[in-house]
Amino acid sequence: MKNFIAPSILSANFAELGKEVDDVILAGADIIHFDVMDNHYVPNLTIGPMVCKSLVDYGVEKPIDVHLMITPVDDLIIKFCEAGASMVSFHPEATENINKSIELIKSRDCKVGVALNPASPLSLIEPILDKIDFILIMSVNPGFGGQKFIPESLDKIKKCKDMIDDSGYSIQIEVDGGIGIENIKAVKKAGANMFVAGSAIFNSDNYKDAIKKMKQEISAG
Ligand code: DX5
Ligand code: ZN
Repeated sequence: MKNFIAPSILSANFAELGKEVDDVILAGADIIHFDVMDNHYVPNLTIGPMVCKSLVDYGVEKPIDVHLMITPVDDLIIKFCEAGASMVSFHPEATENINKSIELIKSRDCKVGVALNPASPLSLIEPILDKIDFILIMSVNPGFGGQKFIPESLDKIKKCKDMIDDSGYSIQIEVDGGIGIENIKAVKKAGANMFVAGSAIFNSDNYKDAIKKMKQEISAG
């Protein structure tokens, strides 16, 4: 599967968001990861569909990957799809009806992802493998950028990859939290192909260099 680097704009300078997104795209970003937090499902508050639409109107052409850390989810799924998102993921515990939320995303031609917290078991997604495009494995507890990668996540990614391979479905694995140049290779080796990185990119002095080094790490095998 192709590899994708997805800078998380949570660590960007929000006062210059359009420029920051332009800069990471020029630096080699494949996807723009857009973290939505509601100060309810997680103890932080970020950005909504208006900001997504602003980025699309500003001219951002790379896929916008909306990671919903909110509850409830359905109303905002619709609004983000209308605002130009290409990928939408939600946490299964945050919705009353997983199948309905999946269907809302699918019917609007967006890629569907289901996000699992470190404590959420893979069994939660086993019954819906036929309906989703990607699984987002959280390698930190959701809510904040700049946290340390939880090492046990590697084993979970491997198990997830085995589960997908056994199912025969074509599902991508995205990993989110604490990823940087020092551990991206292990995350790839475990079975992931989409790599979210916030602080490792936006807190670096040179976005191009950071993304290039990450790509080198994952292309080496
Ligand atoms: C955390 C967010 C992540 C976060 C990643 O709740 O979902 O996307 O921005 O940031 P880093 O890469 O700094 O861990
Ligand atoms: Zn995220």
